[in-house]
Amino acid sequence: MTEDALEDVLRIENLSFPQPWTRGLFVQEFRNPVSYAFIEKVDFEGRERLGAYIVFWIVAGEGHILDIAVDPELRRMGLALRLIAFTLDFMEGDGVTDVYLEVRRSNAAARKLYHGLGFEEVFTREKYYGDEDAIVMRLKFAERVLKDS
Ligand SMILES: CC(C)(COP(=O)(O)OP(=O)(O)OC[C@H]1O[C@@H](n2cnc3c(N)ncnc32)[C@H](O)[C@@H]1OP(=O)(O)O)[C@@H](O)C(=O)NCCC(=O)NCCS
Repeated sequence: MTEDALEDVLRIENLSFPQPWTRGLFVQEFRNPVSYAFIEKVDFEGRERLGAYIVFWIVAGEGHILDIAVDPELRRMGLALRLIAFTLDFMEGDGVTDVYLEVRRSNAAARKLYHGLGFEEVFTREKYYGDEDAIVMRLKFAERVLKDS
């Protein structure tokens, strides 16, 4: 992701979250040396569009997924699955062993997506979002390998 993608990213962000990130927050991530951001483009009705994006950190062997969203018109087409799988491979290649993320308790779609990728729910941060708890989920690459074999 670069600054020229931000118009599309912010449109999707605002449609996707009750407390969306601002432009300033994304720009701050571009300057953060532990932060990475990818976009996923798709061909849709004969036109290339930014379909999804992800922002994550890699710190001391841990990956932290901070933000991921898919254009509402392009959901349930496997975009999130593909983008996270790509991100997990990137993290693993960078020596990451465990990946963490937080998800709203009510976000059944995201929780199902993460479970399908092998994430487990490890604990709850009460009222993390002010109005709602966060479920902290973790993927251990070592366990993913064991499960696959
Ligand atoms: C959650 C989100 C990223 C999923 O993106 P997506 O591209 O639609 O997801 P995929 O098509 O890759 O779905 C993969 C699997 O996740 C699960 N899933 C995704 N959306 C779902 C939904 N609305 N209801 C139930 N399960 C869902 C399903 O198991 C799905 O597999 P299936 O379609 O074969 O049943 C998208 O709904 C989104 O942007 N939501 C708003 C932002 C958000 O909540 N981000 C996560 C914050 S933690």
